Amino acid sequence: MKILACDTSCDETSVAVIEDGRVLSNKLSSQIQMHQEWGGVVPSLAKRKHEELLPVVIERALKGAKVTLDDIDVFAVTRGPGLAIALEVGLKHFKELSLKHKKPLVAVNHMEGHVYSTFAKNSKGKPEISSEFPLLALLVSGGHTEFVLMREHGQYEIIGQTLDDAIGEAFDKVGRMLDLGYPAGPVIEEIAKQGNENRYEMPIPMRYSKDGNMSYSGLKTAAMKLVNEELKSPLNAYAEKFKKQVESSKSYERSQENKVLSIQYAVHSKETEIRDERQVTCDIAASFQKAAIEQLLVKTEFVLNKIEKDFGFKILDLNIGGGVAQNMYLRKKFREKFGKRVRLHFPTSKRLHTDNAGMIGVAAYYNALRGNFAKDLESLDRAPNWRIDQVSH
Ligand code: KG4
Ligand code: ZN
Repeated sequence: MKILACDTSCDETSVAVIEDGRVLSNKLSSQIQMHQEWGGVVPSLAKRKHEELLPVVIERALKGAKVTLDDIDVFAVTRGPGLAIALEVGLKHFKELSLKHKKPLVAVNHMEGHVYSTFAKNSKGKPEISSEFPLLALLVSGGHTEFVLMREHGQYEIIGQTLDDAIGEAFDKVGRMLDLGYPAGPVIEEIAKQGNENRYEMPIPMRYSKDGNMSYSGLKTAAMKLVNEELKSPLNAYAEKFKKQVESSKSYERSQENKVLSIQYAVHSKETEIRDERQVTCDIAASFQKAAIEQLLVKTEFVLNKIEKDFGFKILDLNIGGGVAQNMYLRKKFREKFGKRVRLHFPTSKRLHTDNAGMIGVAAYYNALRGNFAKDLESLDRAPNWRIDQVSH
């Protein structure tokens, strides 16, 4: 079964071809550089860019998989959650493709895609990761922070979630205060390596709450207070320097690399006056990261215990997905704390971590196996706030 899948839920236009759960091609055109100039995603710009890029990325995905539209058996598209007018672009286009080619459409929940990013099969048609139900998924992205219990394919129960900001959003907001560009998660991770994570004590708001819920807005406020108190100007001396490098760089990857390089350079600079400021920046980044991940660790332990107590079974597999799951500090901490208790799984390729159509296609494959296709295309509408536990199966 060949699936053409699409995701336009936020700032990436992505299309992939999946055959029986294996990702044949996974193409993506990022708008991140455009949004970097504004410090975040601008919806109207995102919509226009998706409309412009989608046909091009479809071509690239088909070519990459050496197939044509006539070879496609099923179309799949993210219906939500996400940015309404961005979702609309992908949904409209794929509804039209499905009608034109008389092939069924699977409407996929974006978070379901993040869950299934760890289910992608390898070239031998075997799952790269073999996890068993019931499993626990921890989704950590720019829009979500949630624990999802899966007893079977397509069955999702939210066991806990953030009550305000998502963890990735907190990374991005703190990064913005420190003028680290957008998205700031990878840069915070990198400069935190040169910081002292014990210099500042940051709050873990929900540490003692008797549920699986989390909160990240207090951490963001605490970071803002620190920035105001400890740094003369949040716009650090090196910011202008790496901003110029970012502007002149061609690709997103390159710009991330440049930012990190210039910060490393700045930290090692001999100018003692601003060196303190730079060290403070790295220390705030490290202290923030420590607290942000600590909350996940505390809550994961709570949720694992709660499932054992309330449902009477042990979770043996913990799948962690979403953009923040790329963070190596997070992985190290999870391995240290839970390595003996559960099998920990992360998506096998970097491309499957952040928003991409490959994961949407893998989720669509498991939906298609159950015959879970969209019934009435006419009335099928985008669902910007679609919760994973509202997905029908
Ligand atoms: O899953 P994703 O690509 O998009 C959403 O669905 O939101 O996640 C993007 C988020 C951003 O907030 C970004 O700053 C964060 O993931 N992120 C990271 C890292 N890489 C990406 N956060 C912390 N450390 C990282 N290495
Ligand atoms: Zn996502």
